[in-house]
Amino acid sequence: MERIKSGIPGLDELIEGGFPIGSTTLLSGGTGTCKTIFSMQYIYNGALLYNEPGLFVTIEANAKNIAWNMQSFGWDVGQLQEERKINIYRMHLAPKKSFGDLVKEELSTITGIVKELGIKRIAVDSTTAFASLIDDPSTIRNILFKFGDGLKELDCTTVFTSETKSERNVFSAYGVEEFMADGLIMLYFTPPNRSIFVRKMRGTKHSKTVHPFEVTPKGIVIKPKEQVLWEAIK
Ligand SMILES: Nc1ncnc2c1ncn2[C@@H]1O[C@H](COP(=O)(O)OP(=O)(O)O)[C@@H](O)[C@H]1O
Ligand SMILES: [Mg+2]
Repeated sequence: MERIKSGIPGLDELIEGGFPIGSTTLLSGGTGTCKTIFSMQYIYNGALLYNEPGLFVTIEANAKNIAWNMQSFGWDVGQLQEERKINIYRMHLAPKKSFGDLVKEELSTITGIVKELGIKRIAVDSTTAFASLIDDPSTIRNILFKFGDGLKELDCTTVFTSETKSERNVFSAYGVEEFMADGLIMLYFTPPNRSIFVRKMRGTKHSKTVHPFEVTPKGIVIKPKEQVLWEAIK
């Protein structure tokens, strides 16, 4: 199986060298567990270290905030943005039409960007924001599935985030995101400790234990040789 390096120091050792090319991975965790940093670093290092054009799709924040957030780690995003190796797109979720149409439209815009710029990796942060506009859980599920399916057809390697309750056994906000993904990575913050757990990854013999990680001034660094007890996570 062909893989791409995640760009998160320490992660690739846990997943046989990287994400399977063309796969989708759900990054799940409570608020403040570093979902956004992880997704930005995936795109940034993909562009910087592996010369792979990436697209950061933001649903919550605006594009400027994302760029600032990246710069707070000293990442030189400006140059890579100019070269169109890093691209930030904010989805427009104003419900002027039916949600089905909206998702179709956004997917077609994203597809256009992917084709035009030869995008190889995508991050979508965060799918939980879909729900702020929709009350009915079955409609949310339906839309998430459509969106996930659309992304799978793009031949990109995709990471998308979902904000859950900070509980060990809650894997996604709507109970469906984990089924639309090939991989599921959980992030935990049990103050003062942060940890990461690869819950599933199709076609991959991945680590079965929880590993600590830190947010350094340069970004996330995972410690693949250290373990955290499952019981220690709250
Ligand atoms: N430059 C930084 N240096 C160290 N820690 C940081 C830095 N920026 C953010 N953090 C920490 O990372 C946390 C998680 O950030 P974020 O990725 O936005 O979480 P999430 O998207 O999961 O809600 C922040 O709440 C903060 O504690
Ligand atoms: Mg976030």
